[in-house]
Amino acid sequence: MRNLLNITDLSTGEIDELIALAEDIIAHPETYQDVCRRKKLATLFFEPSTRTRLSFEAAMLDLGGSVLGFSEAQSSSAAKGETVGDTVRVVCGYADIIAMRHPKEGAPFAAVQVASKPVINAGDGGHNHPTQTLTDLLTIHRERGAFRDFTIGFCGDLKFGRTVHSLVSALARYTGIRFVFISPEELRLPRYIVDNTLKRNNLPYIETTSLESAIPDLDVLYMTRVQRERFFNEADYIRLKDTYILDCDKLERAKPDLCILHPLPRVNEIAVEVDEDPRAKYFEQAANGKFIRMALIMKLLELSV
Ligand code: CP
Repeated sequence: MRNLLNITDLSTGEIDELIALAEDIIAHPETYQDVCRRKKLATLFFEPSTRTRLSFEAAMLDLGGSVLGFSEAQSSSAAKGETVGDTVRVVCGYADIIAMRHPKEGAPFAAVQVASKPVINAGDGGHNHPTQTLTDLLTIHRERGAFRDFTIGFCGDLKFGRTVHSLVSALARYTGIRFVFISPEELRLPRYIVDNTLKRNNLPYIETTSLESAIPDLDVLYMTRVQRERFFNEADYIRLKDTYILDCDKLERAKPDLCILHPLPRVNEIAVEVDEDPRAKYFEQAANGKFIRMALIMKLLELSV
C-alpha cells in the first residue's frame, strides 16, 4: 500500500506517469468516469481549504466514486479531544482512501502509522504540500513541455510556504533548473532546505530581497502569500504582508513568455490587473489540480482503465 506524504515519495518516473495520465484524463474525461465506482474518498480537513479539498472531491466524483469527510476540526470529534491516529483508524473503516490536511507538521506521518488505507498529505502546517506540487508540475509541464533549462523565482513567504518547500524538493531532482529565492530576510527559505537540498546537490541558486532586479531573468515566477496563520506575532505579519505586490508595471521588465504561478489563495501579492495578462497561469494551475488528483487517486488505489 502506497501513501503520499512527501513529494519525494514519488520517483521522477512516477511523476512523469502521473502527468501523462492527467493529460489523458484532460483529453478523454469520459474514459475515466467509472474508474472509481463504489470507491470512497474521505477528506479529513483540520484546517481551512478551498482548492485542495474541493478538487479532491471533484476528482473522486469525476472518477465515479463518492466522498465523505469534514472541512474543519470543530465539526469532527477532534473538538472533543480525539487524536489524529484514532480518527484515521476509524475512517479507514468507512473509506478506501484518505486525503488529510492538518495544521501540525508531521500529522500525516502519525496517521500512516495506524492507517490501513492509503493516506495523502493535503498539507501539514508549514512543512509540505505534495499534491499542490503535482499541480504545479503539471502546470509547468503544460506551459514549458519539460522540466529542464529554466530559471524559477519563488517570491514571498519562503519560510512558512509549504508549497514552496515541496516544489523545490521536486525540481531539485531535475537538471538545468536555476533557482532564485526572493523574500524578506525574516521569511527566507529554511536553512535545512538550503543545506540538504540545494547545497548538497550543487544546485545553482541565489537569494535576494528584490523582485524588481530578479524578474527579467525568470522563466517561471511562483508568487506566494504571506502565511498569516503561521505567524506568532500579528505586528510582524502586518509589517511583512505587502512586501511584494506583482503588478503590470513590474511585469514590463519580465520575459514575454514568463509563466506566473501562485498556489492561491491570493491576498494582495498579485494585483488583479495581472489576471488579464496572458502570462498569468494561476487559475489554469488551480483547474489542473483536479486532474492530477484524479491521476493520483487512481495510482494509489491501483486502478486503471
Ligand atoms: N493551494 C491550496 O492549498 O489552496 P487551499 O488552501 O484553498 O486548499
